Amino acid sequence: MKLEIQNVSKRYTGNKYGLKDFSITIEKGILGLLGPNGAGKSTLLKMIATVSKPTEGTIILNKNNIVKDANYMRKQIGFLPQDFGVYPNLNAYEFLKYMAAMKGIGGKDLNTRITQLLEGLNLIEAAKKPIGSYSGGMKQRVGIAQALLNNPKVLIFDEPTVGLDPEERVRFRNLITDLANDCIVILSSHIVSDIDTIADEVAVLKNGTLLLKGHQEDVINKVRNNVFEISIPKDNYNLFKNKHLIVSTTRKSGNLLVRYITDNPIENSVEKEANLEDAYLYLTKTK
Ligand SMILES: Nc1ncnc2c1ncn2[C@@H]1O[C@H](COP(=O)(O)OP(=O)(O)OP(=O)(O)O)[C@@H](O)[C@H]1O
Ligand SMILES: [Mg+2]
Repeated sequence: MKLEIQNVSKRYTGNKYGLKDFSITIEKGILGLLGPNGAGKSTLLKMIATVSKPTEGTIILNKNNIVKDANYMRKQIGFLPQDFGVYPNLNAYEFLKYMAAMKGIGGKDLNTRITQLLEGLNLIEAAKKPIGSYSGGMKQRVGIAQALLNNPKVLIFDEPTVGLDPEERVRFRNLITDLANDCIVILSSHIVSDIDTIADEVAVLKNGTLLLKGHQEDVINKVRNNVFEISIPKDNYNLFKNKHLIVSTTRKSGNLLVRYITDNPIENSVEKEANLEDAYLYLTKTK
């Protein structure tokens, strides 16, 4: 499996770009797409899913140009859009049958497949109740199930963990890890902790461009040996903030414990092990 995004731009109205001259090559495994709001994550994923077309550039899956031949992609893709809507009057089982029909999936194994998915996503008990009565997290899981109906080889989830509670997140993570053999899986999020335990590689986007793509360790290397912690009086915070890139602050016995990134730590700072959150913050705030 090889997905090549080559010099892709998406221009919306006027001079407004959702993505600009964007190139990336994605091979099998789990890619976490990270970027702040408006970075272009959904714009990119919709074009990969052939829901929208680039205004410039090409997208190639296994040597097939999917901008020209969308069907080649559609046969092997599972897509969970960010604004996934469901039919409130159908129950989960009926909805999945309906989606299967829309995607041209049938055959004698369909019922078994749907039951497996409902079980895997912890929906079996609710499967006969109307989706309109589900919680946000349950609706999200129905969306995940429909993306998996056709045993896809390319799986795209736009902000899949929104609305999932911690237990559901663990289930989702396990499910995706099981599915990822031989597949391309792309997960987007603006929250590092949603993807850092699951993604093999990470791509960081901002303003429609790619800041960095690599294994987590490569991304973390950007801030290795530059992450420090220090306790400061609350009153010094504003001054400190103007001089250093702050990752987080915790209140501690009247003072503030500040985690920050710098080449030039102030006296009495303690060096901390850098993580993906630090690197993401550094990349998106300083570039
Ligand atoms: N249909 C549209 N028409 C005009 N501009 C759009 C359209 N869709 C997206 N944009 C703009 O393109 C840019 C990228 O948007 P996009 O939705 O791809 O970002 P995102 O990374 O998915 O953000 P979020 O984390 O909020 O989902 C934003 O500036 C957005 O306002
Ligand atoms: Mg989005």
